[in-house]
Amino acid sequence: PVLVVDYGAQYAQLIARRVREANVYSEVVPHTLSTEQLLAKNPVAIILSGGPSSVYADGAPSVGADLFETGVPVLGICYGFQAMAAALGGTVAQTGLREYGATDITTVGDGRSILAGTPNHQNAWMSHGDSVQQAPEGFEVLASTASAPVAAFANEAKSLFGVQWHPEVKHSDFGQQVLENFLFDGAKLQPNWTTGNIVEEQVQRIRDQIGGARVICGLSGGVDSAVAAALVHRAVGDQLRCVFVDHGLLREGEAEQVERDFVAATGVKLYVAKETDRFLDALAGVSDPETKRKIIGREFIRAFEEAERALISEAGSDGEAIKFLVQGTLYPDVVESGGGEGAANIKSHHNVGGLPEDLQFELVEPLRALFKDEVRAVGAQLGLPGEIVGRQPFPGPGLGIRIVGEVTRERLALLRKADAIARAELTSAGLDNEVWQMPVVLLADVRSVGVQGDGRTYGHPIVLRPVSSEDAMTADWSRLPYDLLARISNRITNEVDGVNRVVLDVTSKPPGTIEWE
Ligand code: XMP
Repeated sequence: PVLVVDYGAQYAQLIARRVREANVYSEVVPHTLSTEQLLAKNPVAIILSGGPSSVYADGAPSVGADLFETGVPVLGICYGFQAMAAALGGTVAQTGLREYGATDITTVGDGRSILAGTPNHQNAWMSHGDSVQQAPEGFEVLASTASAPVAAFANEAKSLFGVQWHPEVKHSDFGQQVLENFLFDGAKLQPNWTTGNIVEEQVQRIRDQIGGARVICGLSGGVDSAVAAALVHRAVGDQLRCVFVDHGLLREGEAEQVERDFVAATGVKLYVAKETDRFLDALAGVSDPETKRKIIGREFIRAFEEAERALISEAGSDGEAIKFLVQGTLYPDVVESGGGEGAANIKSHHNVGGLPEDLQFELVEPLRALFKDEVRAVGAQLGLPGEIVGRQPFPGPGLGIRIVGEVTRERLALLRKADAIARAELTSAGLDNEVWQMPVVLLADVRSVGVQGDGRTYGHPIVLRPVSSEDAMTADWSRLPYDLLARISNRITNEVDGVNRVVLDVTSKPPGTIEWE
């Protein structure tokens, strides 16, 4: 792999994603690994990421000079660039001049080396206080900025390169080009990480792991569990049984997508547990968000266990136990939990609709190495319908946490209708890809006065919460066109009884979370 050494900023994952977008496999590793430990992973190239420290700060992570003698091509980015310069005898100074955000870069001569094919003046995204004043011996300066005399350098003979800016962010105009120059010219790699190869490799791994044993998978309606199940089914066929616990908190059409479209596309054997009553009975009278989440989680595990028992005693299986559980863990979860092997350490609130924590299974995690966009590509390759692979994130507790107040059948029906309108309008405006997700929330405990026809109304507000995000950790509210918002508002207030007001949530995350509960 290409190893991306994480110096503690949020950029390492993004770098790994961009490398994979260039069809080269990459992994994120912590900066605490020694050179020897890095080499043990057989890196074909190494990228040192940005980080929050100054190379001169006490306790700043340093880079051993021995890393640059191994012959493995290295690209230093931002902090990694400075650490590389410092380790090799260049000078890094705290100039007091800071550069944040879009910065004009001037290349030396025509763009050379890793800047080949990029213009003499280009916009790139910077975030640094220190800057490299003098390149180490043997290095050629490739670019500068108003406050950084050395903004990029290269030692072609040793395959060592560095840039002060962040080529991985989309605000850097030629960022991807710079990364690809490093991968394909600097490190001479081949672009062979493709969806077809991912499927082949995973199918083989799954077969090796499961052998002839039985395996179970919980489908939530989301893309991760669907793709994981489809991969495992491709590998071991009907040794896999899928369970779909329909908790009655899904959106319009979603249960059908699982029960009909997913099964049609994959041929998976599906056990459907229709459990709406169980969940709504348990939720009766409850308004507190955390309590709702706990109840839904608890009932989900019970329902899943009952389904498992039903499958074990099913005719034809001779009561044979189920040994493996498929889990749609993604690479960002793996990195966030320290990158370790072994049991998945998933944020607890992400368990609902997925893994019942206390069940005794060995985990099968075929998506552990993949980013979300790769999961979607694998799903498409496996023939899953566009509505499933393109689906926006949806929380496990479903509409249960999008009704502020008690969850009832009537309120669910109302919210489902409003949500379906909002989604349909977003799709027909062609904006699905601009928006990370758009929760539609019913403020069931709030009423406001309105006027409709000749009469006064006293109804509930619906909140639209469209956000843009890269990973749901941070988010901004989406600037949807006013005419689209107007259409959604008109339709919801006209078509959904009991709603007389539509409001737009204009809060970023932080301070707001994406969901309201
Ligand atoms: P918040 O509201 O914490 O949401 O900003 C971040 C992302 O996580 C989703 N989310 C959940 N997903 N089970 C899930 O599987 C949950 O309990 C849950 N709660 C929030 C949310 O939709 C957003 O994408």
